[in-house]
Amino acid sequence: SNATRRYNHNQAILGVNYTKQIETLNALKRQSQRPLTLTEKLLYSHLITGDKEWDLETIERGKTILELRPDRIACHDATATMALLQFISAGLPRVMAPTTVHSDHLIISEKGASEDLHRATSEHAEVYDFLSSASKKYGIGFWKPGSGIIHTVIFENYGVPGGLIIGTDSHTPNAGGLGMLGIGVGGSDAVDAMSGMPWELVAPKVIGVHLTGQLSGWTSTKDIICKLAGILSVSGGKGSVIEFFGPGTETLGATAMATICNMSAEIGSTSCIFPYSEAMGRYLGATSRDYVSKAALGVKDTLLTADEGSDNYYNQVIEIDLEKLEPHINGPFTPDLAHSISELKGAVAERGWPTNLSHAMVGSCTNSSYEDLDKTRQLVAQAKQAGVDKFKVPFLLTPGSEQIRATAEADGILDELREAGAVVLSSSCGPCVGSWDRKDVDVKGKEKNSVISSYNRNFIGRHDSNPATHSFVTSPEMVTAFAYSGRLDFNPLTDSVPAGNSSFKFQPPTNCELPAHFESGKETFQEPPSDASGLSVAVNPESDRLQLLTPFKAWQPRCAEKMELLTKVAGKCTTDHISPAGPWYKYRGHLENISNNMLTTATNAFLPNTPQNLGQTRNPITDQVQVVPEVARELQNLGIRWCIVGDHNYGEGSSREHAALEPRFLGGVAVIARSFARIHETNLKKQGMLPLTFNDLADYDRVAEGDRITLLGVEDGEFQPGKQVVMRVEPRQGQAWEAPLNHSYHPGQISWLRAGSALNHIKATLLQ
Ligand code: F3S
Repeated sequence: SNATRRYNHNQAILGVNYTKQIETLNALKRQSQRPLTLTEKLLYSHLITGDKEWDLETIERGKTILELRPDRIACHDATATMALLQFISAGLPRVMAPTTVHSDHLIISEKGASEDLHRATSEHAEVYDFLSSASKKYGIGFWKPGSGIIHTVIFENYGVPGGLIIGTDSHTPNAGGLGMLGIGVGGSDAVDAMSGMPWELVAPKVIGVHLTGQLSGWTSTKDIICKLAGILSVSGGKGSVIEFFGPGTETLGATAMATICNMSAEIGSTSCIFPYSEAMGRYLGATSRDYVSKAALGVKDTLLTADEGSDNYYNQVIEIDLEKLEPHINGPFTPDLAHSISELKGAVAERGWPTNLSHAMVGSCTNSSYEDLDKTRQLVAQAKQAGVDKFKVPFLLTPGSEQIRATAEADGILDELREAGAVVLSSSCGPCVGSWDRKDVDVKGKEKNSVISSYNRNFIGRHDSNPATHSFVTSPEMVTAFAYSGRLDFNPLTDSVPAGNSSFKFQPPTNCELPAHFESGKETFQEPPSDASGLSVAVNPESDRLQLLTPFKAWQPRCAEKMELLTKVAGKCTTDHISPAGPWYKYRGHLENISNNMLTTATNAFLPNTPQNLGQTRNPITDQVQVVPEVARELQNLGIRWCIVGDHNYGEGSSREHAALEPRFLGGVAVIARSFARIHETNLKKQGMLPLTFNDLADYDRVAEGDRITLLGVEDGEFQPGKQVVMRVEPRQGQAWEAPLNHSYHPGQISWLRAGSALNHIKATLLQ
C-alpha cells in the first residue's frame, strides 16, 4: 500500500544509529564526568569523530565549531530549487545523506484546497517538474503539492527521538516535540550535508526552561512560547538551544510540544528540545512507528533525557508555572510583543490598532495538528448550540498535512467547520508565508486592518505584503473565539458573544491529543529510484523561474576599497525585508530575477520613514532616489563595489539564503551591522560576502549618506580569526574616520571567502 511504501522508505533510510551515538557520548564522557544537558547529548553524539578527538572540557559554548553529521536534511520548495541548483553544480551523483523535498510554500491560498492546488500545479509546473526530476536523479524523497507543511510531514514520518535534522527553514526546531534536534539552516549548509561534508555549528549555549504545573482552561502550549518570546525577545535565544525540563514536560502532548519548539524560531534560538516522554511514544504509535518508540525507550536514560544535575550547566534558567500562565496574544509586527489576554484590551485602545478583525486563520506548521483542528471544532459546536451558525469574520483553516486533512475529514471536523463558513485551504503554508491572493482588503492601497492567526510569525507584510496589516498570533482556540466576536479587544474568558437577542460565553475546549485512528490520505510521496543513472534534469535556458548557477568569482584583492554605501538600514531588517516573499517566491530558482527584490521593504536610515520610501535609496552616482536593487545593478555595471550597513539582529527570521545570494550576485562585498542573526551571518559567509559587526555600536550612527568605506585588514594573510578589521570612512565632506569592526570567521570559513563561496571551496576539495 502507499502507506507501507512510505514507511519502508523511512525505515530504509531512517539513519539514526543509537549504538554509534552512545559510543560517541561514552568516549566523550571518559574525559569528563560532568553531567550533560539533553542538548549536549544530542549534539555531541552526532560529532564526526574519525581523525578528530573531541574533548568535552575544551568544547566552549559560543566558540567551538562542532563538526556534525546530521541524520537527515529537508528542504521546502521555495528553498529547494536554489539548494538543488547548488548541489547540481557540485557535480556529485547522489546525495550522501537522507534528504527530502516538500512542496508547501508555493501554493497560493485563495479559493480553497482543490482549486488552489489545481492553480499551483499549473502555475508552478516547471518548478515542480524540476524538483521532482532532480529528486529522482539525486536520490531525494519528494513530497508533492498537497502532502502537507514540511515540518508536519517530517514530524509524522521522520521524527526520531535523539535524531538530528537540519532543514532549510527556520521552523525546523519543530522536531523537538519528538525529542529530535531540528536546526534551521541556509540552503548552502544543506548542500554541505547533502554532499557528505561535515556540517558546522558553533556549540550553542543552553537555556533551560523549567516547567511546573499543568495547563488548564484557555491556556495552551502556544502561550508558553508566546510568553517566552515576551521574556527573551526576538534575539534573546540567539546562539542557544531552548531545553525544557521539569514535571510540566510530562503533561504535554507531542504535537503540542512541537508548537513550542516550532515557534522557538521567533526568539532567534538555534533549536528547542523536550526530553523523551510517554506522549512521544503515544504519537509514534499512532503514526505507525512503534518500532521507533521501542528503540527510543532503550536509550531513554542514556541519550534522550538530560543527566541528573545538568541543570547547573544551563546558561540561564527560566521558570514557567503552567498553572499561572495566561493565554497570550502577540503582535502586531513582531512576535515578541507579548500581551496576556487580560492586557490586550488596554493595549488595543492605547495603541489604536484596528479593532475590527478582517480575517481569522488557524493553521501553519505551528498549530495545524489534529488536536488544534479538534479544539476549533469544539468551539464551533458551542457557537452552533448557542444559535450562532457562522463566524463573524472570514475564517481560513489549514490542516497541517494530508494525513491530518484525511483524518479530520473522516471524523467530520472539516464539514462542521465548512458549515460555519471556514474555507479549508490545502495543506500548505499559504497566508503564513505570504502565498495569499487576498481580495478582502486593498492590499496595494495599504489598507489598515487587523488579522488574528495561530501562525508563528507576524513581521510587517508577512501574510499579504501589506505593511498596514496588523497581525496577531495566538492559539487556535483563541483565534476561533475571536472569529465569532470579530473584535480585537475581545476576551473569551470574560466577554460574551451576541447570539440573536441574547448572548453566550464560550467554555474552553478540552484536549484531544490524538485521533482514534490516523487516515493516511492520498498518496503524495515520490520515492527516488535506486538507480537513476539514465535520468536527467532539464533546465530551460529561456526560463524566467529557473537558472543554472554560475559560480561566483574568487575574492578579488582590494575589492573592499572605496566601496559605495548602498544603503544604511534602520531598525528591524529580517530576511523578509532583504528578500521579500509573496509574489517573489516564483523566482526562488532564478537568482538574476529574484535579485530585483533585494531590500525592497527595508527602511533606509537616510530617508524619511514613510511607506513610500521603503526599499529606496539615493543613487551615489546620480543622486536620484531609486529602488535599492536598481542602484546596486548600476554600480555593478560600472564596476563599483558596494556595501550595506545594518542595525541590530540584521537578517533575523527565516533561513532563506537568497537574502545572502542577492547582495553577492549584485556586486556587494560586505554587510556591516550592529549584530547579525546566526543563520543569515553564516549564509553571507557561505556566499562569499563579508559580515562584520561594529565594535562600538555608536559607530553605526556616525555612518552618513554618501560615505565611501574601505576595509583594512581583510586581505590574504591579514584576515584572521579573532582579529579585528578596520573600517575607514570617507565622507563626502569632512574628515575621514576609522572604526574597529569584529567578525566571527574561523579558519575554514576564511577559505570560503577566498574561494568566492563555500560551494567553490567544496568543489575544489572534492576534486582534490
Ligand atoms: Fe510554512 Fe509558515 Fe511554517 S511558511 S513552514 S507554515 S512558518
